[in-house]
Amino acid sequence: MKKGLFITIEGPDGAGKTTQIDNIERYFAERGRTVVRTREPGGTSIGEKLRAVLLDPANTEMSPITEMLIYAAARAQHVAEKIRPAIDRGDVVICDRFMDSSIAYQGYGRGLGECVRDVNLIAVDGVLPDITFLMDLDPAKGLARIAANRGTEDRLEREALDFHYRIYEGFLALCDEPGTAMVRIDADRTVEEIKADIYAKLDEIVTG
Ligand code: TYD
Repeated sequence: MKKGLFITIEGPDGAGKTTQIDNIERYFAERGRTVVRTREPGGTSIGEKLRAVLLDPANTEMSPITEMLIYAAARAQHVAEKIRPAIDRGDVVICDRFMDSSIAYQGYGRGLGECVRDVNLIAVDGVLPDITFLMDLDPAKGLARIAANRGTEDRLEREALDFHYRIYEGFLALCDEPGTAMVRIDADRTVEEIKADIYAKLDEIVTG
């Protein structure tokens, strides 16, 4: 059986992931592939309950380690229940955020460092993306887009700007790691320009 593909999309809040996930989904649908589109935190019934706890602005007392472990717990369930079975069936899994978000937000943003990777390697149990698109956008621009489009912010988005810059620094560091699956996409351009870059990368993978 043809092995599936696992694609993740990362980036600062408001970097335009959703629009490009639509495009990636279309790319594979046009090629007759079965696509499983999912997101983190969430993607399963248990994961969506954990998501509500994580994003609720009322949960101001949540400790950084609690936060990191809940994201990892949601991810472990997501991999076991949805992502691994889909890849094993030969499907294309497109996931809005994955383990790199924990390294950037909890590792760099909250300052928890390397333990985040260790915990998440347990959670993902060997399931790592074939390719990760980093939507590279200055965090201040991303947050301004959110404010203009949505008007409300969740618990993470409410953090101070320096928190978001630490996260951004984390994503850029991940891009520079040897053997990384992360591809940096300049997200400060038109939707069509960004799409063209992403499609060129997908062509490489598909013809691989
Ligand atoms: P969401 O509304 O899905 O944001 P976005 O549309 O930007 O992806 O909320 C997810 C929030 O959770 C977002 O602020 C990033 C954060 N997050 C972490 O801090 N750690 C993680 O491991 C993941 C997956 C997300």
